[in-house]
Order: sequence, then structure tokens, then C-alpha cells
Amino acid sequence: MTPLPLLEVSKLKMHFDAGKKRTVKAVDGVTFQIREGETFGLVGESGCGKSTLGRVLMRLYQPTEGSVIYRGTNLHALSEKEQFAFNRKLQMIFQDPYASLNPRMTVREIILEPMEIHNLYNTHKARLLVVDELLE
Ligand SMILES: Nc1ncnc2c1ncn2[C@@H]1O[C@H](COP(=O)(O)OP(=O)(O)OP(=O)(O)O)[C@@H](O)[C@H]1O
Ligand SMILES: [Mg+2]
Repeated sequence: MTPLPLLEVSKLKMHFDAGKKRTVKAVDGVTFQIREGETFGLVGESGCGKSTLGRVLMRLYQPTEGSVIYRGTNLHALSEKEQFAFNRKLQMIFQDPYASLNPRMTVREIILEPMEIHNLYNTHKARLLVVDELLE
């Protein structure tokens, strides 16, 4: 038995209303699967819809059509509470570190912030300890 794919994108469409009855079909029927341990690269000319597809996967957009299934769960059919919990599992990593790291925050604060948002390790003191361990 082949294991369930990690991510299954099926017939995904993301169309934008561009005014004057015009529609931009940024993503128009994309299907692929990613298995656990696999590295997947998406390549194409500028404007072909790579970033839009990524944003749909991150649930920043509700797709026009199609589905995104992660380990058997439809990502666009989650309740708000489930979405919040799910944000711990799926994250964007931006290429440019200068755009990723907020220069107004210390490294300690940056590592701490997601732990506070998701209330990990119970107490503030415990979180600070984990941050220090990670930095070590
Ligand atoms: N919010 C939006 N509203 C309307 N059109 C959009 C929106 N976002 C993207 N588009 C259009 O959808 C198309 C795909 O854009 P997208 O940014 O996904 O391409 P890309 O493959 O990431 O390009 P690049 O390689 O330059 O980063 C483009 O024509 C873009 O102008
Ligand atoms: Mg892009």
C-alpha cells in the first residue's frame, strides 16, 4: 500500500476579478501531489501563478475551484479554530532574510513570538528558556 500523499492539489483554480468584466486566471487547473520526504520545485515564467498558488496553499486566498488536501484534510474546509492550530504545521520561508526578519525586533523576540501566539510551553518563563536553548 502506498502511503497517503502529504499534499494533494487537485484541479486548483484561482481567478481574480480585474474589473470591467475581466478575469485574471492566475491559477487555472493545477494538479500535483507531494509525498513525505520529497522536495518539490515549481518552475515557470514570471506571472504564471507560482506565488498565487503558494498563497492559496497557505490559505491566504479561498480558491475559485479545486481542493488542497494535506494528510487527508481539506485545508479550505477547516473551522477557524482548526485553521489556527494548523498554522503551526504549514509556514512560508521567504528567500530574502532581510525581508523575513523584522529589524525592529531582537532575534530573541523573533523566535519567541510564534511560541507566544500558539501558547507553547505553558509559561513565558519556560518559553524564554526554550529560546535560549535554541540559540545555544
Ligand atoms: N490579487 C490579485 N489580483 C489580480 N491579479 C493578480 C493578483 N495576484 C496575482 N495576480 C496576477 O496573476 C498572475 C500570476 O501572478 P503570480 O504573482 O502568482 O506569478 P508568479 O509566477 O509568482 O510570478 P513571478 O515569477 O514574477 O514571481 C499575474 O498575471 C498577476 O498579475
Ligand atoms: Mg512570484
